[in-house]
Amino acid sequence: MFNAKFDSAYNFLTDDELNSARMDASAAFDTLMNKSGEGSDFLGWLGYPNNYDKEEFSRIKKAAHTIERTSEVLVVVGIGGSYLGARAVIEALSPYFEKRGMEIIFAGNSISSTYLTRLKDYLWDKDFAVNVISKSGTTTEPAIAFRFLYELLKKKYMKDELTEHVFITTDKAKGALREIGVKNDYEMFIVPDDMGGRYSVFSGVGLLPIAVAGLNIDKLMEGAKEAANNLSIKNNNPAIEYAAIRNALYRKEFNIELLESYEPSLTYIVEWWKQLFGESEGKEHKGIWPSGALFTTDLHSLGQYIQEGRRNLFETVIDIETPSADLDIPFDRDNLDGLNYLAGKTIDYVNKQAMKATCKAHEDGGVPQIVLSIDELNEHNLGYLLYFFMVSCAVSGYTLGVNPFNQPGVEEYKKNMFINLEKPGYTK
Ligand code: PA5
Repeated sequence: MFNAKFDSAYNFLTDDELNSARMDASAAFDTLMNKSGEGSDFLGWLGYPNNYDKEEFSRIKKAAHTIERTSEVLVVVGIGGSYLGARAVIEALSPYFEKRGMEIIFAGNSISSTYLTRLKDYLWDKDFAVNVISKSGTTTEPAIAFRFLYELLKKKYMKDELTEHVFITTDKAKGALREIGVKNDYEMFIVPDDMGGRYSVFSGVGLLPIAVAGLNIDKLMEGAKEAANNLSIKNNNPAIEYAAIRNALYRKEFNIELLESYEPSLTYIVEWWKQLFGESEGKEHKGIWPSGALFTTDLHSLGQYIQEGRRNLFETVIDIETPSADLDIPFDRDNLDGLNYLAGKTIDYVNKQAMKATCKAHEDGGVPQIVLSIDELNEHNLGYLLYFFMVSCAVSGYTLGVNPFNQPGVEEYKKNMFINLEKPGYTK
């Protein structure tokens, strides 16, 4: 169950400001649904929960079983949209401490020599598999990591065993990874042509690592499908309202949004969301800066700024109504810590009071709030929530007047780096 509450944000907007942004977001929604806007050749994700490739879906489950059988560790190699969705879902739903299923390690999302060296050492005496994910097949960070890990795999396993340790997710027709896969008969999954990385969590890009982590990808897709169906209707559509409010606030100089959670396991949901909105909207010198915070942890670091710093922030809180586990706070006869006033209350009750108190304090301090609630943290609800954000982001980007599906700015650092590295074809 998903619910969105915008009451606090409404207090910061006049009727005219709200109505004008609502009209623009409504038109943006039509543009998205009619596929008539810029980047409309990248809308494969929109109908995907209803029309995804069922044959590939079964192959993903089969590959996950193969990896569970042959390996103790899966290394997911990818950067940006090629790993954040999987990592977000896996970290949100995996137990904090006890090990369930495979160990999943992410690599190829930085160029840290220390990380890669230590990873090689760590994997040396373990059975492991690699799922390398790159739509282009040429991104430097994952390409470097894969070169090392593939070399290690080739040292550890015979050629015919490698087919159970190398899994490639890439373009269906082109790229270096495709060639390696075809040449060696490795299992391959497709990043659909019409889907950018940050919108690809429900494709093989996200699903294989999520399935290997022991999570239920059927339920994840069911949640996404329910969202795809509910959010394709204009009336009372919270994705359009979220987009409208973000733009209305932005027009009033609220140009930083913090996505917040009171559950530490959502840290990578925030990271995924930051990429989704940052890469989709930050262009033509426009866009809300997407940021994040984890409460109550960050109330003891960023809280001061949020309460009393520059008034250009608004907050979107992900509220999990019922926690996955809870504890009653015990009575203590000596009460030296003075906590007996909480005895008999649950930890989650305290967390919820912290959330209510923070929302009120921040609103009183001039920070508008949006609250997105799910009844519990599970595959279905995460599927719903992530799809909700994808639709909102597309509508919000069109409302802002940018193409939410390209990322031209990402190329600039690459060009400079390739010149520095003397890559063939790149000169000063
Ligand atoms: O969202 C995006 O499109 C990007 O973040 C890409 O996923 C990222 O740059 C990795 O690209 P590739 O999958 O081609 O290696």
